[in-house]
Amino acid sequence: MPIAPSRRSFLKALAGPLVAAAWPGNAHAVWQEPFAGEPGLAARAATKGLIFGAAEVAHALANDPLLVEAYRRECSLLVAANELKWWALRREPHKLDFAAGDWLFLFAKQNHLAFRGHTLVWHYDVPSWAKEIAPGAPARHMLEEHIWSVAGRYRGHMQSWDVVNEPLHPADDRADGLRRSYWLQAIGPDYLDVAFRTARAADPNALLVLNEYGVEFEGGDNPRKRKDLLRLIDGFRARNVPIDAIGIQAHLSGAPDWFDAKVFLAFLDELAARDLRVLITELDVRDDDLPRSVDRRDRIVADRMTEFLETALSHPAVGAVITWGLSDRYTWMSEFHPRSDGFPSRPLPLDSAMGRKPAWAAIARAIDGAPVRTPLPRAPAASLRSPA
Ligand code: XIL
Repeated sequence: MPIAPSRRSFLKALAGPLVAAAWPGNAHAVWQEPFAGEPGLAARAATKGLIFGAAEVAHALANDPLLVEAYRRECSLLVAANELKWWALRREPHKLDFAAGDWLFLFAKQNHLAFRGHTLVWHYDVPSWAKEIAPGAPARHMLEEHIWSVAGRYRGHMQSWDVVNEPLHPADDRADGLRRSYWLQAIGPDYLDVAFRTARAADPNALLVLNEYGVEFEGGDNPRKRKDLLRLIDGFRARNVPIDAIGIQAHLSGAPDWFDAKVFLAFLDELAARDLRVLITELDVRDDDLPRSVDRRDRIVADRMTEFLETALSHPAVGAVITWGLSDRYTWMSEFHPRSDGFPSRPLPLDSAMGRKPAWAAIARAIDGAPVRTPLPRAPAASLRSPA
């Protein structure tokens, strides 16, 4: 018996958005249905010795049960997106506010997610009061004290720490390629050694990561940045500075000509030859220059992810894929790289209703096609989620 239209809409409402998406005549979001029953990204990653996780802000998780469900479904690791940055922890001098960081940490623990710290040293998040601290010994002391307090608080519980974020900036025109940050100016290039040594002492079990952007791309001064990074690492090795891994942010461009698979693979070989593992730490795709059509845009975003991840995950040094946010509902892109037509950004694997997008499938397929590798060391086994 044919179903009358009124009954149809009643059944659609009853069955929920996933079935509704596949309902004949509803072309919109038909793609959601084929991925609905599949295992989450973390579960499939685990079969390859890989971690899949995402960064999130506490207030989103605290207020959105669907987002929480999505993290539980897709992730085995959570990154504190903002809560462990200087500006969040140290709004006032000599006072650390761990409220939001601790909330995220407990959230991760309760939901069996490994926890990842971001970031102990960054040029962008130094509060103005801190910049008043005298250069030399006082600045160095402040840095040591900060790392000791923050990494020390979560000692034994952190899967990894971004000890230093974005230390390179060839445009600042130094022979070593280092960014002329507050820290560099106050302490000198030695601030990097100080940061890694203090982090190791404060939390000997956390994987210590230097996180950087641009080294995954062609164009501009990115090739120079790769060379500067390798030279920096050689210096660390020569001075016995403890570093375990490089974080590659991977905020991918919507345009294909920024990525060269051969060059990237050769760079990963250089990192592996220096006994380093690699984490893809902030994956998403900028879509402010992409077509307005959601279907076309989603396809391009997925294609960029496929191209990048198929290359990255073919390399055994890469041990984690982490996206910067999980759902388009909560993405930094809408603030930092908004579309000029006002349409919402769609850079992430899940849409704003937590439905799986082509970008989700791109990540899933890239993981499925990846060879098995040695899992990252130092991930505290007790806090890692067992594959669902
Ligand atoms: C961004 C956050 O997502 C924003 O909410 C915040 O206002 C600024 O920082 N690279 C990084 C991250 O290493 O720390 C940045 O996060 C995004 C770019």
